[in-house]
Amino acid sequence: MSETERVFRLLYVSENRIAGDVAQVAAEIERVLESSRRNNAALGITGALIFNCGFFAQVLEGPPLAVEQIFEAIQRDVRHTKIQVISADFADARQFPHWSMAYVGRSPSWEKALGWMKDATNYTEAERDDRLFRIVTDMAHDAELSADRSFGGGS
Ligand SMILES: Cc1cc2nc3c(=O)[nH]c(=O)nc-3n(C[C@H](O)[C@H](O)[C@H](O)COP(=O)(O)O)c2cc1C
Repeated sequence: MSETERVFRLLYVSENRIAGDVAQVAAEIERVLESSRRNNAALGITGALIFNCGFFAQVLEGPPLAVEQIFEAIQRDVRHTKIQVISADFADARQFPHWSMAYVGRSPSWEKALGWMKDATNYTEAERDDRLFRIVTDMAHDAELSADRSFGGGS
């Protein structure tokens, strides 16, 4: 399999800059998801967006050039800041084949993960990133399996 046929997967975290009350923030996230599902489906990108307590985590997977193109637009978006890439690498298969952009809202495991990240001072950066990657993908998969109402919108 050539590099261009393999799926490229990127995980980043960022801080929310959307102002307003809960309903205003929810409405803006809904707009982000609408764009995501439309553009990602057209580009062959799948993934998951997790939002809670002012932080985003997003997994994008697909053809390398398409992931790069979408991520460039995402990085310019003023609705978030302090974008930090956790991992970016080729993978053998997609983790979210059925979701142009799955959404996971408020959840106890994400709060736990954020708490853990703040306290994770005695880990190397690679260990921390690896752990965060597993937390994010596990959460998105759990949500998919439980068919939670907060998790919607297949491709
Ligand atoms: C946290 C976050 C995640 C986003 N994820 C995506 C995405 O996966 N795909 C996408 O097309 N746009 C995404 N966006 C929106 C883009 O930054 C941009 O607004 C959008 O691609 C513009 O496309 P449109 O003009 O077709 O709506 C995201 C924005 C934010 C703040």
